[in-house]
Amino acid sequence: MTVLVAYASALGSTREIAQHIASRMAAALGEVECRSVEEVEAVSGYEAVVVGSAIHNQAWLPPALLFFNHHARELAKRPAWAFSVGMADALPKPFRRRGAALQQKRLAEVLIKEVPLRGHKIFSGVYKAGQMPAPLRKLFRLTGGRFGDLRDWAAVDEWTDQITDQLAKPASSTSSGSITG
Ligand SMILES: Cc1cc2nc3c(=O)[nH]c(=O)nc-3n(C[C@H](O)[C@H](O)[C@H](O)COP(=O)(O)O)c2cc1C
Repeated sequence: MTVLVAYASALGSTREIAQHIASRMAAALGEVECRSVEEVEAVSGYEAVVVGSAIHNQAWLPPALLFFNHHARELAKRPAWAFSVGMADALPKPFRRRGAALQQKRLAEVLIKEVPLRGHKIFSGVYKAGQMPAPLRKLFRLTGGRFGDLRDWAAVDEWTDQITDQLAKPASSTSSGSITG
């Protein structure tokens, strides 16, 4: 089985998550290719696809949206999953879960219109102080916000293993068209 893990990343954290997913899947499934969305010409040669993008301004990066839109018809013919990398875990604690849930819902609604995904997952990425306008940083910290590498690799592994399990099972025992976390 050849699986594609495609990503769009502005500063590298989404690329590293995609590479991690690809190498973990490869250990279980065999051939897995990890490419930036801009490098992929066609998805018809892959049996399953995982697509991830950094979130900027509450949306996927333009190359990821373009990829999703351009390949929607072929993506719909095979098992496909999506993940989004944002900064929900950087928010003050009381807002983290709610922030992630709102973002999960908003992004999934946009994506599912194009492709009947088997799942969409939000991960936290890397959020550095320099990414926030200086006047807001102090207030952000004072209210419980934080900066740093907030990637939860155990959560990435857990999600990857769920996908691997589905792909390892016969097609009849898996479902499609639902969005789950
Ligand atoms: C200009 C800009 C806008 C961002 N907008 C959002 C956003 O709307 N929601 C969010 O959760 N994270 C947002 N982030 C945080 C990034 O998604 C996060 O830092 C992620 O790890 C970036 O992935 P990358 O390293 O692959 O580019 C933004 C970051 C930047 C630089």
